[in-house]
Amino acid sequence: MGRWLVTGGSSGLGRALAAAAAEAGHRVVVTARDTATLEDLAAAWPDRIVPVALELRDPAQCQSAVRTATDQLGGIDVLVNNAGAGLFGAVEEVSDDEVRDQLETLVVGPWRLIRLVLPLMRAQGYGHVVNVSSLAGRVAFPGLAAYVAGKYALEGLSQSLAAEVASLGIRVTVVEPGGFATRYGASLTRSDRRLAEYTAVTSDTLAGVRGMADARGIGRPEDFAALVLALVADPGPTPLRVPVGDNAFAILEAVEQASREELTAARALTRLAPPRPTPAP
Ligand SMILES: NC(=O)c1ccc[n+]([C@@H]2O[C@H](COP(=O)([O-])OP(=O)(O)OC[C@H]3O[C@@H](n4cnc5c(N)ncnc54)[C@H](OP(=O)(O)O)[C@@H]3O)[C@@H](O)[C@H]2O)c1
Repeated sequence: MGRWLVTGGSSGLGRALAAAAAEAGHRVVVTARDTATLEDLAAAWPDRIVPVALELRDPAQCQSAVRTATDQLGGIDVLVNNAGAGLFGAVEEVSDDEVRDQLETLVVGPWRLIRLVLPLMRAQGYGHVVNVSSLAGRVAFPGLAAYVAGKYALEGLSQSLAAEVASLGIRVTVVEPGGFATRYGASLTRSDRRLAEYTAVTSDTLAGVRGMADARGIGRPEDFAALVLALVADPGPTPLRVPVGDNAFAILEAVEQASREELTAARALTRLAPPRPTPAP
């Protein structure tokens, strides 16, 4: 059975995954900013769940989470960078500090955990890094630029990482959830600055995200968890990026189609004859 480190276990996808992994017999270090939220998980699987406090933006807590996993489990086979939260605001509304804060959670924290876990995985000659991105890691939405930037960055670092560690026996998977019924929409924070000029183009995104958990046909966290367990158990090779959820594939097909059309248009544009120099008067 595997030794897992799963971040963001207080609710939603991370909580469902930690429970499913423990149920399947794995030993799981589960993190939460408030470990009281993990008490019921630990009580349900006392030999398999180890709760650890982790604020992703705190380097010392990242170090101690990995140290606890090493001490308690003897190592880490699977790191799931799941914890995350979104910031809502148009590009002009979001401040430098707000961008930095969003990227600390979505990019710097997961990157730091990967850096801390890789020496263990290299030493044992195997391991699996699962980074939970989003469809927003493949397609941008107005009003979510900071979140989108974070998820695109997570996808980019994952792609580089996969190429760097494949020969070391370490696998990398980016999981891209569509819509799942979690606290994600409720915990979306708003930039301090608000400009009325952007309401018309961003309000649909905000309403969509806030109402996501109650939307018809929304995914169940348990289904997400089952898919991640199956992915990790699969001997591979598996795709680097794996969309999850009923709507995810249809949306990404449309994104791919739009991307092909954009490439065709760009090629046509760059093949235009260069403009003739204007004759000197
Ligand atoms: N639900 C969806 O439809 C959906 C779609 C695409 C992507 N995702 C991604 O899925 C992942 C899980 O989100 P979810 O949907 O399960 O939402 P959720 O129910 O709000 O859970 C998010 C988890 O991340 C933790 N977290 C947030 N910021 C953190 C930080 N700075 N340091 C440590 N922990 C932090 C939260 O802890 P606290 O309880 O302490 O806040 C919570 O445990 C996220 O990366 C999200 O971007 C979700």
